[in-house]
This record gives sequence, C-alpha cells and structure tokens, in this order.
Amino acid sequence: MRLTLDKAKELLEHAKKTVENDGFIRHSICVGDTAAVIAKALGLEDPDYARALGYVHDIGKHLNEKDVEWHDVLGFNYLLEQGIDEQDAWICMTHSYINGDYTCEAGGIPKKHPLRCEKLREHHYNTYEEIINLCDLMCLFETMTMEKRLIDLLVRKGVHENTHYHIVESLKLKEKYDKMLGHNLYDLFPHIKI
Ligand SMILES: [Fe+2]
Repeated sequence: MRLTLDKAKELLEHAKKTVENDGFIRHSICVGDTAAVIAKALGLEDPDYARALGYVHDIGKHLNEKDVEWHDVLGFNYLLEQGIDEQDAWICMTHSYINGDYTCEAGGIPKKHPLRCEKLREHHYNTYEEIINLCDLMCLFETMTMEKRLIDLLVRKGVHENTHYHIVESLKLKEKYDKMLGHNLYDLFPHIKI
C-alpha cells in the first residue's frame, strides 16, 4: 500500500511506545513538517506525502534504539513487512545518503550492504526523497539552517574522511532547491535566519 499520512502517524505512534528516548520521534515530526512546507512551496501535488515520508524516514531507529548503525536497512525491511510499497520504503535508505552514494553520509563511511551500495546506486531519487535529504539536514528537533545542522553533526559525529565531500554535496543540494524555488529556501522559514 502507498504510505499515507495516517499510516505514517500510526507507525510513528507505535514506535514511540517502544523507545526510551523519543528524540528521533520529535526529529522525524520536524523533518516531515518541514518537508511539507517545501513541497507546498514547490507546488508538488501531495505535500502530505512529503510529511508522511519525513515521519517514517528514521523508523528503523526504534528497532535497535541503542545502536542505530543499521537503522536505514532495518527501517526499509520494516516498512516492507508492514505492507508499505517498496518505493515508499526507500525513504529509509535514501535519507541518509546524498545522490545515491552511500559514502556521502554524515559521520564517516558506513559498512557496505547491497541496499546501500548496488541497489541505492540504481535507485533514482524523486523530488520527495531529495526534500527529505534536505530536511534531515535542516532539522534536529526544530527547523534550522543547514549550516547550523551541519555543525551539530560535526560536533556529535566528528570529522571523517568523507566529511568535506558530504558538506559540499549538502550545500549543493540546498542551492539546487534555492534555484527550484526561485528564492532562498530559508525564506520559507523566516524564524531560522541568523
Ligand atoms: Fe533523520
């Protein structure tokens, strides 16, 4: 079934009951709500679909709260088990990596897995998926500038061999959406401006 906003809320509610720390739940709501604003501003047909994807992008984190290293793969398989369409389940994979490159991630190059390598490379990101990439890089528990979020990631995850690459590609993605919108993306969120 296609992921609906109601289903995404239901999955997130269930996840919330199973975790000790609801940080990723609050983060996911922030990502979804921010994504819906961007989708609407771009004139996409279904801003609530963007919201739903944001709500579930980190759903794999509730399956192994103490070690989230594999939350992308766990989340993908979990959504499939819940009967969600594969295209929608992909959000659990794509959100972590820019441009289908598993090495383009904050916090070092992750361990290889077919879903992260061959399959992700073959997967063509749609606009909704790119928006979630963008929002994951603009949200902790509230919307912020990407620059601020990247510093948060640097402080928490450290500097790794792929850090420069990841920052450059993140900023390129933001620039792409500035152009698509015809104005600075941050204009949609005046309160986050420094
Ligand atoms: Fe996230």
